[in-house]
Amino acid sequence: MAFKERVFSGVQPTGNLHLGNYLGAITKFVALQERYDCIYCVVDLHAITVWQDPSELPRSTREVTAAFLACGIDAKKQIIFNQSQVAEHAELAWVFNCVARMGWLNRMTQFKEKAGKDRENASVGLYVYPNLMAADILVYRATHVPVGEDQKQHLELSRDIAQKFNNDFAQSIHAHGYGEAFFPLPEPLIQGPATRVMSLRDGTKKMSKSEPSDYSRINLTDDADAIAQKIRKAKTDPEPLPSEEKGLEPRPEADNLVGIYAALKGSSKADVLREFGGGQFSTFKTALADLAVAKLGPIGAEMKKLMQDPVYIDSVLADGSERAQTLAAETMKAVKDIVGFVRR
Ligand code: TYM
Repeated sequence: MAFKERVFSGVQPTGNLHLGNYLGAITKFVALQERYDCIYCVVDLHAITVWQDPSELPRSTREVTAAFLACGIDAKKQIIFNQSQVAEHAELAWVFNCVARMGWLNRMTQFKEKAGKDRENASVGLYVYPNLMAADILVYRATHVPVGEDQKQHLELSRDIAQKFNNDFAQSIHAHGYGEAFFPLPEPLIQGPATRVMSLRDGTKKMSKSEPSDYSRINLTDDADAIAQKIRKAKTDPEPLPSEEKGLEPRPEADNLVGIYAALKGSSKADVLREFGGGQFSTFKTALADLAVAKLGPIGAEMKKLMQDPVYIDSVLADGSERAQTLAAETMKAVKDIVGFVRR
């Protein structure tokens, strides 16, 4: 069955939006709006699966919204909203809690990483987090989901949930006139040279919001001096840059910086090595710092400007929530019929 093509993705408001979020996700969000109807969500329900200070969460929510706008997402044509304002996400997540299997969730590597050794003390929300993620996507019957590499396993789970729902309720789906399948199997879009941006201090670790050292990441709100300094101090090795991509394989830090340059420039690692291969890191780092400042500087400045007008940001979220809810409510009505809930 053909589904209407629609893009959905989400970003958690947990502070410190960084270059990984930008290159792995937000730049893709911006590009996709040329071709698709897009829904971009600040996933505050996901954020509270680990403790969030209630006096900080509103600021973080507005900051992600500001980043979406500053990077060029058109809030009038597309939908930007925060998850908690559309109750259907949580409602569908409950149905999916009853579709997904314990065995599936037990395989989720991100839960294992986040819960760490003290698993008994992790919130139940953190465990069922991927079911909520499936609900986020499928409550809009979205077909395409741009994400970084680290979300791949969660996307596979979303597909498994959609498939199992379609199978379990096949007769009812058919009887209610929805044909063979009610949910599409959402396709992850994970492409380009920076789907997994690594820490600037350790090329084997992902760049992340929660890493204690601020030198490990470039934040979207860093000023030009901070960006240049972090790149200058980024870990490298003593060899010159290779001329071929293959030469990057055993060198995670070099590979990461070349990937970042390629993604910022909109080119490929091979192109970057054609230009800088055989040269010293010092020359390459200067060029990378200039490029990063030129790209990120205006975004950081615009975010700061937007953050001074929370009333405007809140109006964007309120408008987006209303439009998102209209779509989500339609899906939920159908899901209730399919599952067999008596409706008002
Ligand atoms: P979150 O908030 O951790 O990250 C937001 C987006 O940024 C990507 N990303 C990266 N990409 C490349 N390199 C990195 N170092 C890096 N770090 C983060 C993430 O892959 C993500 O695309 N569970 C999601 C949010 C979510 C969601 C959804 C996404 C909730 N519901 C439905 C898609 C669809 C998360 O925690 O992303």
